[in-house]
Amino acid sequence: MWLAEKFGVTVPVVGAPMANVSGGKLTAAISAAGGLGMLGAGSAVSAEWIRAEGAIAAAGGRPYGIGLMAWSVRERPEHLEAVLELRPALVSLSFGDYIPYVAPLQAEGITVATQAGTVADAREAIDAGVDVIVARGAEAGGHGRNAVGTLPLLQAILELTDLPVVAGGGISGARGLAAVLAAGAAGGWIGTAFLTCVEGMTSQKVAQRVIEADETDTVYGTVFDAASRAGWPDEFGGRALRNAYFDQWEGREQELKADNTGHADYVDGTKAADVTRASIYAGQGVGALTGRPTAAEVLDGFAGYRDYLKAALNGGAK
Ligand SMILES: Cc1cc2nc3c(=O)[nH]c(=O)nc-3n(C[C@H](O)[C@H](O)[C@H](O)COP(=O)(O)O)c2cc1C
Repeated sequence: MWLAEKFGVTVPVVGAPMANVSGGKLTAAISAAGGLGMLGAGSAVSAEWIRAEGAIAAAGGRPYGIGLMAWSVRERPEHLEAVLELRPALVSLSFGDYIPYVAPLQAEGITVATQAGTVADAREAIDAGVDVIVARGAEAGGHGRNAVGTLPLLQAILELTDLPVVAGGGISGARGLAAVLAAGAAGGWIGTAFLTCVEGMTSQKVAQRVIEADETDTVYGTVFDAASRAGWPDEFGGRALRNAYFDQWEGREQELKADNTGHADYVDGTKAADVTRASIYAGQGVGALTGRPTAAEVLDGFAGYRDYLKAALNGGAK
């Protein structure tokens, strides 16, 4: 199994990079428990934050990864410099022109991944020489494309390449992990299932809202990017929990970009962890979250994928 050979994982799960959620502590906890944790470096963090959190992620002595946004690295090359110094085992570069950064990372012995939301994205990734492709379906939490669901995308990309392909989007437990492994994926690229972990950066108020949410409560769009002014290209929206702020501005994103009151309302809401105004990124698998587990407990749950694979071979589970 590629993930085991490359990174020594015992459960074929990559803890997807999640800005404002997966800091060094959650990253280290996922790696310590048998997966591969990834630090989520959002566009707003400093290079110092990456260095400090990377050191925490590395302290347990297990391999770990870092996720960067390509559009943001272009504006903040110091993010890439910090990552090259840390030399994590895996770096993902997604959303924007990541191609110039592939070779410098590989030259340091770093495995490079990108998240593809379409077959065209995957073709581009193959041409760019990445080491592993993440087939990231539309049901995934956080930013990406809203074009194709995880299963059709995964199947199409697996048909396209012999590179390892990891599946992301909507894998909320062992059943989903078994499904993508059976299809031929090298593992799961899993974000939302770790969203409420005690080792993560999610506040109690936000975690409570996430736990209450069900699978129909997410929306995809660019409202929160227009509000935050972080600089996200319009091409990539995000999947988050629907709230009053989203409803107020949906369809008026261009207006919001220039609306200082709307921006201030969002910033205040975020600071106060006001779930009616803040962006709470989450995928459709959010309905499966019921509490605040440790990362080890989440991985333990995923480790049950073997039972579903065995049952399927024996004529199907009940
Ligand atoms: C709260 C949150 C933050 C995210 N932040 C990032 C990020 O900083 N960089 C990135 O490449 N992907 C980010 N993602 C996307 C994940 O890498 C991944 O594609 C997604 O979580 C997989 O689908 P799932 O949430 O259904 O498991 C984020 C996702 C969530 C839920």
